[in-house]
Amino acid sequence: MLREPEARDRAAFIELFASSEVHTYLGGPRPRDELEREMPRTPERHPGLLVVDLDGAMIGQIILRRATPGPQGPPAAAGKAELGYLFLPEAWGFGYAAEACAAALDWLDDTLPGEPVVLFTQTANVRSMRLAAKLGFTEVSRYEAWGAEQWFGMRSPVTLFGPAASASDGGPEAGGR
Ligand SMILES: CC(C)(COP(=O)(O)OP(=O)(O)OC[C@H]1O[C@@H](n2cnc3c(N)ncnc32)[C@H](O)[C@@H]1OP(=O)(O)O)[C@@H](O)C(=O)NCCC(=O)NCCS
Repeated sequence: MLREPEARDRAAFIELFASSEVHTYLGGPRPRDELEREMPRTPERHPGLLVVDLDGAMIGQIILRRATPGPQGPPAAAGKAELGYLFLPEAWGFGYAAEACAAALDWLDDTLPGEPVVLFTQTANVRSMRLAAKLGFTEVSRYEAWGAEQWFGMRSPVTLFGPAASASDGGPEAGGR
């Protein structure tokens, strides 16, 4: 289930942000004591921030927001819808991230039809690279930032059409989804 953060997610958020495994390719974790001090009783809610809930417990988060790639990032991504994902390590390897991200992207497709989505990840982040490919993202470019090679991927509306799509069944040539 995808839902807003609730008070009962506080410990899972702290775990997610303090985990060195989760942050291996994200610049390192935040100190746990700082998180314990600063995290509000109910973790902050933001538009596009979704808790991934499995049987009543938070296993990760998905963020859909407008990209701000910064000075080292590709200017082409600025202002586009961006997908980000963080899951607790014990939830890796079951397909939960793929299922949850696909649902979030389906929601976006219904809400903003034709909206392209961008994604950034380190090329060394093999799990993330596999997930991005599974979700239909394709490489736009690679660039160096924060001492590592970064991958800029995009999922354009055209990617939604399978190889069998054609003008007669509403394929891209027909100008609609
Ligand atoms: C990136 C991340 C979300 C990927 O998680 P993940 O669990 O590997 O991703 P998926 O949901 O696609 O699961 C795929 C795995 O589930 C397995 N799986 C098991 N049952 C499955 C099922 N029923 N359906 C699909 N996959 C299944 C697949 O075989 C695959 O395992 P493998 O990688 O060992 O081959 C996770 O590693 C993570 O949170 N990393 C830290 C945060 C991060 O780096 N984010 C990127 C910055 S945007």
